[in-house]
Amino acid sequence: MIAKSDGKRGLRFAFISLHGLIRMREPELGRDADTGGQVKYVLELAAELGRRPEVEQVDVITRQIIDERVGPDYAQVEEPIGENSRIVRIPFGPKRYLKKEALWPYVDLFVDQAVTYFRRNGLPDVIHGHYADAGYAGAQLARLLHVPYVFTGHSLGRVKRERLTHGDADPQSLEKKYRFRQRIEAEELSLETASLVVASTHQEIEDQYQRYDHYAPERMEVIPPGVDLDLFRPAEPNEDFTEIRAALAPFLREPEKPIIMAMARPDERKNLGMLFRVYGESPDLQRLANLVVVMGTREDLRKFPRAQREALLEALTLIDVYDLYGKVAYPKGVNPTMGGSLFRLAAESRGMFVNPALTEPFGLTLLEAAGSGLPIVATHDGGPRDIVANCRNGVLIDPHDAGAIERAILRGLTEPDQWQEWADSGLAGARKHYSWAAHVDRYLREITETFERWQTPVLAEGGRPARRPEFERLLIADLDNTLAGDDPALHDLSEMINSSSDVGFGIVTGRRLDDARRIMKDLDLPTPDVLLTSAGTELYYGTKLTRDESWQKQMGFQWKPDEIYAALDEIQGLYRQPEAEQSKFKISYTADPEIAPKLARLRKILREKGLRVKLVLSLGIYLDAIPQRAGTGLALRHLLYKWGFSPEHVLVAGDSGNDEEMLKGRTLGVVVGNHGPELNRLKKMPRIYFAEGKHARGILEGIEYYGFMNAIRIPNDLA
Ligand code: GLC
Ligand code: MG
Repeated sequence: MIAKSDGKRGLRFAFISLHGLIRMREPELGRDADTGGQVKYVLELAAELGRRPEVEQVDVITRQIIDERVGPDYAQVEEPIGENSRIVRIPFGPKRYLKKEALWPYVDLFVDQAVTYFRRNGLPDVIHGHYADAGYAGAQLARLLHVPYVFTGHSLGRVKRERLTHGDADPQSLEKKYRFRQRIEAEELSLETASLVVASTHQEIEDQYQRYDHYAPERMEVIPPGVDLDLFRPAEPNEDFTEIRAALAPFLREPEKPIIMAMARPDERKNLGMLFRVYGESPDLQRLANLVVVMGTREDLRKFPRAQREALLEALTLIDVYDLYGKVAYPKGVNPTMGGSLFRLAAESRGMFVNPALTEPFGLTLLEAAGSGLPIVATHDGGPRDIVANCRNGVLIDPHDAGAIERAILRGLTEPDQWQEWADSGLAGARKHYSWAAHVDRYLREITETFERWQTPVLAEGGRPARRPEFERLLIADLDNTLAGDDPALHDLSEMINSSSDVGFGIVTGRRLDDARRIMKDLDLPTPDVLLTSAGTELYYGTKLTRDESWQKQMGFQWKPDEIYAALDEIQGLYRQPEAEQSKFKISYTADPEIAPKLARLRKILREKGLRVKLVLSLGIYLDAIPQRAGTGLALRHLLYKWGFSPEHVLVAGDSGNDEEMLKGRTLGVVVGNHGPELNRLKKMPRIYFAEGKHARGILEGIEYYGFMNAIRIPNDLA
């Protein structure tokens, strides 16, 4: 156990949660579709974890947003959460607020920013990524820094895509709107990298994670989140309900009646329209109770995003159609404290809480109801199953079955003994199964087990400080087809490099060292300060070509070359490259594009065999299989980390698939005019310049474009 008591320092956690609006002071939960349960989950988990004696620090790392539409709080660089826990905001991409689907092109910029942050503040002991976007970033960081990785999906792309394609929406426009391909690939990478996947319910593992290639139930644990039991507690004898009563007063004719309560973001999936219909068509319900629905915190509903506005308008329309004036309240501006008070008021009125969602991944509000002593009627789809099984605090219903919903609510309203039994066992169950304290006990146990299987990260092994080079800038270029291919242009470039003492030079290649050296000699290239060979698996420095042993040290993690050869040998249209092209951590084939399966399919085949490997395709025909922890991008970042070198002073040029990884991020990317088709997808990314010029001519053009030899500027930094 790593604890302060044995003289060691405590554990440091880096939680990464990138989208939405995260702040500790009055979190604006429900303000938009990206600011909901996840934000709450992350903050509450961080707060409880920070309280533990064995924990030294919990950083919740999110995006810094500078945008007057959302206010100045999200621009603060740091904000305390509690004891030993804080929010850290790191800028990346545009300053303005972006919805989560629009963040994808910038996530690699975040990875580089986070590397800089960790270098300054020390490496964390655990990285925990939340949701696909941060999942991707966290996985990259964990691979680079060799830190154990924990992933929580919160909700999953495959599940959402399936649900939406059941409707009649056209797959292409869904893709455009939700970016499923990117999201699902990020989730696969997260699952592949994670030593521990934290799920909230059994259904999440069995029905949801199960749909992924990297499904690995042995690494997945159900650890239900806690509910804030200080905020969601039963009413005290003289509880003061003035504020919440005042918020309901304008709506209700007979405010003392029992309250049927619902609380959800206005969102089609939450199926609130169903509840209005059930209530509107039931004279019994209308006679016995009022309906109080909290639909997010809203200021001006005209400024709402369209989907939410539509869901809200549907609710308002139904109130009018069924003429429910005086019986239905939909107060606005209910903050978390008032929300807690509303649960208690509803419990005091002997009302019921209803969640009719079409699907509910977890159902935090149901636990808040349980913690307040308010029985529930909840959808049978998703998390509520576990909740009702643990707490026995109400009834599960089919969200499409209006009759069943009505009967369940009526039962609570008309059978006082039943109501009391639900209320009591909900109170007990919430405390037993759903406190953050219980969650963190489990969480720390699981983490400790993970540690037992882990070695010290290479970059954390103090000792010899990496010698910082003399130069201020670094030009890194791929060899074949980037540097090579146009002799006069290469000559100009070589002269430029040789004559500028403050610019370092690096060469990257898919070839092996011996082969690369031969070509470098043939081309009369300047002596490189850095040489990265065998597709990002070997790293050498200086004139003596000293090998970076630390880069190779943990590369063999989960690397099973024999099995990879066996799997790829079987595939039609793949031919092993000559023995001279194979090396310890690089397995290379040539693919016949007419016959061989597509890259995505190849990945799937290997994943299904349980092989964890990175597959890289270059120029449509060269296929390299390398370890997860290898690759040109990670190798470059390893180097920058050791040197403490700023990515903005590094120009990276390439032409094909094995260069893709190192082109992404905060470095200055240049893709030469003669590039392979696989790099076209980088056109949407910031900081990648597509030169017209081919080969070295394209590099020269990129140098010019960024003013790399003079005052660096970044014209394509999309802000
Ligand atoms: C070089 C290597 C080859 C590799 C390709 C892509 O051509 O010689 O083995 O597959 O680069 O990285
Ligand atoms: Mg090349």
